[in-house]
Formats: sequence, structure tokens, C-alpha cells
Amino acid sequence: MTHEVVVQTADELIALGERIGTRLTGGETIELIGDIGAGKTTLTKGLAHGMGIVEEVQSPTFTLSRVYDAPNGCRLAHYDFYRLNDAGIMRAELTEAMQDVRMVTVIEWATVVDDVLPNDVLQITIHVQVDDTRRLELSAGGDSGKRIVQEVAK
Ligand SMILES: Nc1ncnc2c1ncn2[C@@H]1O[C@H](COP(=O)(O)OP(=O)(O)OP(=O)(O)O)[C@@H](O)[C@H]1O
Ligand SMILES: [Mg+2]
Repeated sequence: MTHEVVVQTADELIALGERIGTRLTGGETIELIGDIGAGKTTLTKGLAHGMGIVEEVQSPTFTLSRVYDAPNGCRLAHYDFYRLNDAGIMRAELTEAMQDVRMVTVIEWATVVDDVLPNDVLQITIHVQVDDTRRLELSAGGDSGKRIVQEVAK
């Protein structure tokens, strides 16, 4: 199941993230793929808004992970493994997060933890186009991911 969408601005990307975020119920794993500055963290800000999180999402580049509380009891765990050759102790933390049915797990630069990602992962690839617009490819390998892609495609 795949779906493509083009957004013109960062605000539009956040709005798309909000649409996806309102459909998250907990237990989802989302892998964000794209170059530096593509908009992975910007999209995550939208996901958080959509989940009702009021705290401002900040890039976890230096902390590797940040967790935010949503008003409905769900949480958003945001990981960034940029330039990491070994995720170390974070592998165990990530694995635990992904098994938590109340947790939405979002990962930037996930290659180093590829082997622990579930089959049911929603992959969102962000392509930067020459005019700075972004083309997004949403792709799901499992049931919860497919449901979200279908709803966003409506
Ligand atoms: N059409 C657009 N969509 C999204 N972001 C845009 C767009 N045009 C410009 N931008 C800018 O691009 C930047 C995207 O930065 P962001 O931190 O979200 O990228 P990232 O993919 O998380 O990068 P990194 O890999 O370094 O973490 C923001 O400064 C945003 O304002
Ligand atoms: Mg980022």
C-alpha cells in the first residue's frame, strides 16, 4: 500500500503531519526517510500536534531520543540515529518503545536499527524537489500502517 503527496511549504508539511497524527492510536512505528533538511523533524512536529501534544517537538539529533506525552495517555517517542554506527543501549530502549501499545515511535535515520524494526512500519520518504517543494511517499507493510495510508489517501 503506497500513496504519494506533494506539499509546497513547511506549514503544509506540518498540516499533513497533523492529519496523520490524528489517526494514530498508539503502537505505530513510523520511519522517516530523507536527506538532511528534507523535513523529517518538521513532519514530526505535525504528528505531535495531531496527537494533541502541546510541547514543541525539538530535533533529537544530540539527545538521540525525546518522548512527549499526549492528552489521551499515548506518547510520542522521537528518535534520530544520524551518523550512529552502533545504537548501543538505545536499541533496547527503542525495542521497548515499539512494543508499547500506547507509544507512537518515530525514527529518523533508522538504518542502524533496521533489523529491529517491525514488519508493520509506516515508511514516509521525503524527496526534496528543485523548487523546494517536497514529494512524500507513504508506504506500509502491515495492517496499522496500511490503515493510516488509506485514510490519508482519502
Ligand atoms: N516545502 C517544504 N517542506 C518542508 N520543509 C521545508 C520546505 N521548504 C523549506 N523547508 C525547510 O526545510 C527545513 C527542514 O528541516 P527538518 O529539521 O525538518 O529536516 P530533517 O529532515 O529533520 O533534517 P535532519 O536529517 O538534519 O534531522 C526546515 O527549516 C523547513 O522550514
Ligand atoms: Mg531531523
